[in-house]
Amino acid sequence: MGKDVIIACDFSSAVDVYAFLDKFTGRKPFVKIGMELFYAEGPQIVRDIKARGHKIFLDLKLHDIPNTVKKSMAVLSRLDVDMTNLHAAGTISMMEGALEGLTRPDGTRPLLIAVTQLTSTDQERMENDLLIKEPIDKVVMHYASNAAKAGLDGVVCSPLEAGKVHDTCGAKFLTVTPGVRFADGDIGDQKRVMTPAEAKKIGSDYIVVGRPITAAEDPVAAYERCVAEFCD
Ligand code: C5P
Repeated sequence: MGKDVIIACDFSSAVDVYAFLDKFTGRKPFVKIGMELFYAEGPQIVRDIKARGHKIFLDLKLHDIPNTVKKSMAVLSRLDVDMTNLHAAGTISMMEGALEGLTRPDGTRPLLIAVTQLTSTDQERMENDLLIKEPIDKVVMHYASNAAKAGLDGVVCSPLEAGKVHDTCGAKFLTVTPGVRFADGDIGDQKRVMTPAEAKKIGSDYIVVGRPITAAEDPVAAYERCVAEFCD
C-alpha cells in the first residue's frame, strides 16, 4: 500500500455514516472506524462498509493481557479490515500476541499499528499520573521501537514526529498521522497541525483526516484536495 488519505468517520450511527459515504460516488476513500461507531453499530457496520468497496482502518486501540489481545485480534482479522491498532504500552509481548492472532490461516493479515502516547497525554500528566519521568519524545520513540521490535508495521503519531520515527525505526516503518488541516482551515481542538502537503514532505505514509472533510460544505471536494496535496 502506498500513501493514502484515511477519512476519520467519527459518526455515532450507521444512518449518519451512510449519509456521508453516499456522497462518494467515484473513488471510494480509505475510512477509519473508531470506537464510537463500532460500539454503536457492532461488527456488521465494518462488513457493510467493506462491502461498499472501502478500505478500513479499525481504530479500537486494544490494550489487555497478551492472550486476550491475541484472541480478540483473531476475531478482528476475520472482519477483513486493512489496518487496525493497539496501545504500545501493553508491552512487546502483547504486541507479539496481537500479530500472531491477527495473522490469518493463509498467512495474510491487516496492517498493525501502535499508538505510542496519546496526544491528550502531556509531559505533566505522564509524570504525575503514570509516574513516567523520561521526556515524552523519548517515551514516544521508545514505544515506537518496541513496536518495530515486536514486528508491527508502524505507529500513529503526529506528522511532526514522522521524520524522527522513520530515523529511529526505518524508512519502511509506517507513520499514520492525524492532526492534519488545510492551510486556510479551522484547526479546531488539534494543537500541533500540518497541511497534507507538509505531511507528505515530512514523510507521513497515511494521513488521517476527520473534520476538514466530514464537516466541509463539499466533503468530496475536500477529500480530493487532500489526495491532490498528499498523494499526487
Ligand atoms: O477531525 P480530526 O481531523 O481532528 O480527526 C482526527 C482523527 O484522528 C480523530 O478520529 C481522532 O480521534 C484521531 N486521532 C487524533 N490524534 C491522535 C490519535 C488519533 O486526532 N493522536
